[in-house]
Amino acid sequence: MLSIEQRTSHSGQDYLDQANLSEVKGSPNQSLLPLTATVNNCDHLEVGGCDIQTLVKQFGSPLYVLDEVTLRTACHQYREAFKTYYAGTSQVIYASKAWSCLGIVNIVASEGLGFDVVSGGELHTTVKALEMMNWSREKIAQNLYFHGNNKSQEELKIAIDIGCTIIVDNWLELEILVKLAEQNPALTIPILLRLTPGIECHTHEYIRTGHLDSKFGFDPNQLDRLFTYVSQQQSLDCRGLHAHIGSQIFERQPHEDLGSVMVEWLKKAQNYGLKCQELNIGGGLGIRYVESDDPPSIEQWVKTVSEAVMKACEANQLPYPKLIAEPGRSLVGSACITAYTIGSRKEIPDLRTYIAIDGGMSDNPRPITYQSQYCVVVANRLSAPYSETVTIAGKHCESGDILIKDIKLPLTQPGDILVVMATGAYNHSMASNYNRLPRPAAVLVNNGEANLILQRETYDDLISQDRLPQRLLSYSS
Ligand SMILES: Cc1ncc(COP(=O)(O)O)c(C=O)c1O
Repeated sequence: MLSIEQRTSHSGQDYLDQANLSEVKGSPNQSLLPLTATVNNCDHLEVGGCDIQTLVKQFGSPLYVLDEVTLRTACHQYREAFKTYYAGTSQVIYASKAWSCLGIVNIVASEGLGFDVVSGGELHTTVKALEMMNWSREKIAQNLYFHGNNKSQEELKIAIDIGCTIIVDNWLELEILVKLAEQNPALTIPILLRLTPGIECHTHEYIRTGHLDSKFGFDPNQLDRLFTYVSQQQSLDCRGLHAHIGSQIFERQPHEDLGSVMVEWLKKAQNYGLKCQELNIGGGLGIRYVESDDPPSIEQWVKTVSEAVMKACEANQLPYPKLIAEPGRSLVGSACITAYTIGSRKEIPDLRTYIAIDGGMSDNPRPITYQSQYCVVVANRLSAPYSETVTIAGKHCESGDILIKDIKLPLTQPGDILVVMATGAYNHSMASNYNRLPRPAAVLVNNGEANLILQRETYDDLISQDRLPQRLLSYSS
């Protein structure tokens, strides 16, 4: 938790000044605010040329506001950096778990990225969006990777039908795939094998996935058995290996280590006769949520992994594999802000002042889940000096529903618009209807235009899946 003294901002305007510094403007993941953020004549925050207070009036509150320029810039920077630093072929695929909907898939796909999906629902969303863009079946298959540590038979059948690459996580999944393929002898299923490399990184416990005590992937001491088994299956086309070591990572060393470990395992797999010409090193690059966060830029991260993989290939006399990265947070996280309307205030003398907003843990479960921290500004009084220390409380019936503790803000009134920064990743995608709150709308902003990409749920949406058994009605009255 950052102490108040560590925060360097004195008004919301300071965040804009920082966001507009040229060295941080370069890489979206290093910017607290979307790249187009600016202040207008009314002292209001604008993103994508749209006044945030006006957006809230038009689309309601709370509201996710996604900046198209920031998202496209991040996609572009990943692709360009791989072209610059990796001498083999490369593919950047968006980890759709960060935030998946038709609009986002469309933008990311139009920037030339592929997709990683982890469920039948993400698969469905992605395929529908790509079909709407008239992508051929072949192109969809080539750009789609299916993850998951407990994929159902139904999900696997859909993935096989689409022809995407399945990132196999465990023995049961391998057996299911082999059985499914027996029903169609002409079928070969493209797969990658997900391995657990045992690399530690200093990130929150729940978002580490690559150390040995992990529910994901095959254990490294099973590699001989694994490669032997897979090499005996005619129906499996093992194209390569995968590992993902965690999320919100600022250090570069873990990914450097990962590159060399994975290349050695690639060579081992090839020695078992597996084709294995792809290496997927996962995602994990962190973003700036608070001023003290200092993630490497997209370019620096890509340079690190590219050089590590190339160096290891040279040491192992291996041709460069197709290098795949699957970032989520660093593509979409900094592109979005959430606008809330400020409501009630509770002052506890000599202890704390709570300011409540009209959302909370249902639209952003990260603070209560990971103790994540965020920066805020009051969007309709940007340059007002910070004059008090308050705690921002959500509206849920849960004492832990606190968005930010002890933050400096100007004096606010009910109806002011509070903007929380960097909410594009793992906010809407982890949102719930806790306390039966409808999930907020999301608008895409660009050049003064705002378009709905997710409609606000209504109260009737909330009961649309409820079913009332007829016999219950006969007891009433
Ligand atoms: C397998 C896999 N790939 C990619 C990602 C994306 O990670 P990030 O959003 O940190 O880039 C995740 C997220 O946890 C993941 O589990």
